[in-house]
Amino acid sequence: MFVRNAWYVGAWSDEIAAGAMLSRTLLGDPVLFYRLADGSPAALADRCCHRGLPLSHGRVQDDCVTCGYHGLTFDRTGACVRVPGQERIPPAARVRSYPVRERDNMVWVWMGDPASADDTLIVSHPFAQSPEWTFLKDRYLVQANYQLITDNLMDLTHVGYVHNRTIGGTPQAHSEAVSRTRATEHGVRVERWMPDSVPPPSYIAVHEFRTPRIDRWMEIEFFAPAVVRIHTGAMDTGTGAREGLRDDALLFWGFNAQTPETETTTHYFWSGARSHVAGRSIGEQRLDSLRITFSEDKDIVEAQQASLNRQPEPLVMIASDGGMVAARRRVAAMLRAEAETVAPVEPAPASAPAALD
Ligand code: FES
Ligand SMILES: [Fe+2]
Repeated sequence: MFVRNAWYVGAWSDEIAAGAMLSRTLLGDPVLFYRLADGSPAALADRCCHRGLPLSHGRVQDDCVTCGYHGLTFDRTGACVRVPGQERIPPAARVRSYPVRERDNMVWVWMGDPASADDTLIVSHPFAQSPEWTFLKDRYLVQANYQLITDNLMDLTHVGYVHNRTIGGTPQAHSEAVSRTRATEHGVRVERWMPDSVPPPSYIAVHEFRTPRIDRWMEIEFFAPAVVRIHTGAMDTGTGAREGLRDDALLFWGFNAQTPETETTTHYFWSGARSHVAGRSIGEQRLDSLRITFSEDKDIVEAQQASLNRQPEPLVMIASDGGMVAARRRVAAMLRAEAETVAPVEPAPASAPAALD
């Protein structure tokens, strides 16, 4: 069960090349992405309404997709515009189209009622093209439900245990962080403050700290149902981080979009952007360690999913679960609201479609 009326990241922009097609299962739906002649993205159901062949077996031409089986052609709205060998195009000959938007190097897709698609709900993250920031991104296909990834991001006490090779620091510092959780307009925000803590390896590798310990902060913003933006920073201990004097800080923006593929698999789009600080930056400011960090999380949630498959209950709550619980409640409320107010999303066509003659 997924929230349908929401923007999800369907692809990184560079995954959809001009003239090519990208087929991807999102929320259980086969979706075909391609680009129109003006470069803007389009998305159709990846299933021909004639005999069900995925349209991704066909080809893109003149803003349309032609099926690779019997040549029916569909425009960007999903309407069939050509049936080879006959003049008449049956009204039922169409496939679903999805609203898509391209923002910040990502292609967002609205998986619910197109009439409800609201561009203001797209989460902004403008770091990909900025020369001020080093940027790295990737997508991992994770064998776990998307909410296990959200849980992971909302409770960063795991950092000291899971990521001690990279961004960790000491487990104690993370567990004792001063933490505040509150509801926001579109989700949940968790703020964590870790004064006077041991700098982790990946921080020392890129930034020249002048004190042996550092003040760290983490601000985690959940945008329901499946995006988490994380802002973190670190400065020399006692030099004004809490008062906002952060010019010398090592800053990091993480973006995480955990788009469900199925109930137990997730397209995990992640990216990281790190600031350059004049006189404090070391080396090439590479972000390669992020690949390790995110694969460490992948290993954890996949093992967790396998364990929960064997035995879902019982589970015990602890204090640091506050952000995770608030995020899950938000998603549950959206699901309830959709169940009460939204007509079911167009069902899959029957296996014996209306005649096409
Ligand atoms: S299955 Fe697509 S045209 Fe026949
Ligand atoms: Fe993590």
